[in-house]
Amino acid sequence: MAITFNETTRIFTLTTAHTTYQMQADAQGYLLHLYYGARTAGEMDYLLNYGDRGFSGNPNSAGSDRTYSLDALPQEYPSLGTGDFRNYALNIENADGSQCCNPIYITHEIAAGKYTLKGLPFVRAEENEAETLKIILEDPVTKVELHLLYGVLEKEDIITRSVIIKNAGKAPVTVKKAQSACLDFLHGDYDLIKFYGRHAMERNMERMPVSHESTRIGSRRGTSSHQYNPGVILAGKNTNEDSGSCYGMLFVYSGNFLVEAEKDQYDQTRIQMGLTDELFAYPLEAGAEFTAPEVILSYTNKGLSRLSQQYHHCIMNHICQGKYVHANRPVLINSWEAAYFDFTGDTIVELAKEAKALGIDMVVMDDGWFGKRNDDNSSLGDWYVNEEKLGGTLTKLIERVNAEGVKFGIWIEPEMVNPKSELFEKHPDWAITLPNRKTYYYRNQLVLDLSNPKVQDFVFGVVDNILTENPEVAYFKWDCNSPITNVYSPYLKNKQGQLYIDHVRGIYNVLKRVKEKYPNTPMMLCSGGGARCDYEALKYFTEFWCSDNTDPIERLFIQWGFSQIFPSKAMSAHVTSWNKKTSVKFRTDVASMCKLGFDLGLKELNADELTYCQNAVANWTRLKKVILDGDQYRLVSPYDGNHMSLMYASPDKNKAV
Ligand code: GLA
Repeated sequence: MAITFNETTRIFTLTTAHTTYQMQADAQGYLLHLYYGARTAGEMDYLLNYGDRGFSGNPNSAGSDRTYSLDALPQEYPSLGTGDFRNYALNIENADGSQCCNPIYITHEIAAGKYTLKGLPFVRAEENEAETLKIILEDPVTKVELHLLYGVLEKEDIITRSVIIKNAGKAPVTVKKAQSACLDFLHGDYDLIKFYGRHAMERNMERMPVSHESTRIGSRRGTSSHQYNPGVILAGKNTNEDSGSCYGMLFVYSGNFLVEAEKDQYDQTRIQMGLTDELFAYPLEAGAEFTAPEVILSYTNKGLSRLSQQYHHCIMNHICQGKYVHANRPVLINSWEAAYFDFTGDTIVELAKEAKALGIDMVVMDDGWFGKRNDDNSSLGDWYVNEEKLGGTLTKLIERVNAEGVKFGIWIEPEMVNPKSELFEKHPDWAITLPNRKTYYYRNQLVLDLSNPKVQDFVFGVVDNILTENPEVAYFKWDCNSPITNVYSPYLKNKQGQLYIDHVRGIYNVLKRVKEKYPNTPMMLCSGGGARCDYEALKYFTEFWCSDNTDPIERLFIQWGFSQIFPSKAMSAHVTSWNKKTSVKFRTDVASMCKLGFDLGLKELNADELTYCQNAVANWTRLKKVILDGDQYRLVSPYDGNHMSLMYASPDKNKAV
């Protein structure tokens, strides 16, 4: 049994192969967190400290007992308005305008299998692979219920968390903050490892002590962003790649998020992850509910490489789906850096010929094939082929590429619109734009309002039309080159507080439809490089374009950061002509650590270099089973000196690269 409940002490224990997670519905009805860490036996309520603490209040139910304060006790799901003045996971605004919810334990259920979430992505598991715990807490005044969900994947050392907020009362309320998971630690000194960055320099790794302040990182850009990633690690002071305690928290969500970490007045550490409370206010009529996206927790005392492996396994076995999780993935050459907007059908066919000579499986035609798009000023939204530029129909071009023995893939950016486009002229109200104000742009484009079901149909139609007319399209590069600017949904009108949520759910609806209709078409997710790299995305996309930066030296850092939370299989890395001071060997070696590809005109290479690349493709193809499906060990960090080294080992440890 991965989940047990002791009726007498009201202690819940969640057990995985190497970890234990414990909490208690205490005598007052509050759900207190007791322990998360290495697997252990026994009940840990003895760890709780009670003392008369100045300036830390006591809940009404404690009467005159000044030793009981929620401001000091470790909690499972802290709520604003209960006397806990630390960061809180929940804030509910009630019909009377008060902001308070006092969640008290009512009941729980334990079931075989893993819970699912409506309209949101989640970790999947078979009935025999996981157990679910649902704990129901209720505010006695408003009858707002919290259904705290825990999924325990015992073998994988994974615990997932989510929460459903249900308005079981009679009056409407508004959810103003709803995080998905909180971890409270009574003892210990920790570092927070986060992955910050910018366009063309994503996932830099930064390790900072959690100190007496509240650290907040997140995104208010509408996507998970280049700047921070919804994956963080809380590590012990001496933890390194090979040893020591570390906890991972990963958010299965592609929109705005917030991570908060703080050390409180009693030196206790709290870390939370979930939706951001900024630009968020979700109304709940009586009977309605709101589901917060899932957080995946994992712990090990064997260091960061091991934590990464636990996450890599979880992704490959419980998130990714479809044929390409295990099937051979194509090596591709992309037209972008070879030609940018300046190409014709012949350029693409020429690339196909060169690709064939190198042993590359596929050519991807990047931006510039549709509407009147010869630069980034216009035509997003007008997804009809520029036949003049391609010298014929798309079908004809695909036939020419296929005739060279190479498959054909195509770039799209279907969630966006340029104001200079027929789509915008026809449907200005489909774009997210502020009323009565001058619009500001990012790359001359606007984001389509995916909270609107009509827009969802349109975006699905972009993919559907291409594949209906051209079933030979074997791959999509799906881009998203703008954060949400001018934040206002013409569709949602006076419910703007739910825009970011409904927009992301709209994207998921579209992606779900695409995946259901075209389960075998691999798709790469790009967002100006790596601005939307998160676990949800891997449910629909086979891989990420990790960064527009392909300088092999800088890539070492980018890939090192990515690998902490994403498997090599999910990371596309292309050999390009960036940093020609480095050898072709160095460039191919760096790209070969992930899913190898090319993004350059092969004419730029001399005969020796071409032969080198040919051999590199053959070598990578020979070794890719171990590189893409093996366990990754990070041996030497580029942050520590002038070297970087990774090892991949097959699960049976008979082969290593
Ligand atoms: C983004 C991507 C690039 C390329 C361009 C096309 O910047 O990251 O790889 O596809 O868009 O406009």
